[in-house]
Amino acid sequence: MHNDISEILVTEKEIADICIRLGSQLTKDYKDKNPILIGLLKGCMPFMSDLSRKIDLKFDMAYMSVSSYHGGIASSGDVKIKMDLDISIKGRDVLIIEDIVDTANTIVTIVELFKHRGANSVKMVTLLDKPEGRLRPYQPEYVGKVIPKAFVVGYGLDYDEYYRNLPYVGVLKPEVYNHE
Ligand code: IMP
Repeated sequence: MHNDISEILVTEKEIADICIRLGSQLTKDYKDKNPILIGLLKGCMPFMSDLSRKIDLKFDMAYMSVSSYHGGIASSGDVKIKMDLDISIKGRDVLIIEDIVDTANTIVTIVELFKHRGANSVKMVTLLDKPEGRLRPYQPEYVGKVIPKAFVVGYGLDYDEYYRNLPYVGVLKPEVYNHE
């Protein structure tokens, strides 16, 4: 698995530091609120698990599964809900937890949906941001690290469902997906 990675972009130590930094920022910003953390599956899993334990507040968590890739390395632009929330978010202060923002097709669609459903506020926490990939204007409120436009895997991020269990974020060697 490690042999398929050309370069490590975010180390385990950096990820741990990001969780501490964002966790303490969120603890301050939401201290008088009762936020709900909504993770977008499956990529959010390790980040949401580590980040949530660094937020020193009472909050609940929910999950939603959306897809825009359909197996390749580029967004199809067509966002589908594969599994919806099991709770109402009306009047709630929502924090969406994502692994990465690239084109922003996914997040813009989900923010519009949550506002339509009556959320009081909708903000986003993303581990990684690839601003060069934007097709729609969007600035996440909480960003772990800005990275260049490369296809990355690890710490929740996959290629064809693999590599999510890498403890760091790395660039996948192009020969891994070019031979297909
Ligand atoms: P967007 O809609 O283009 O912003 O993409 C958001 C989703 O695409 C993320 O939640 C990931 O699932 C996926 N994605 C974007 N860039 C990468 C990448 O470099 N590696 C793996 N998945 C990615």
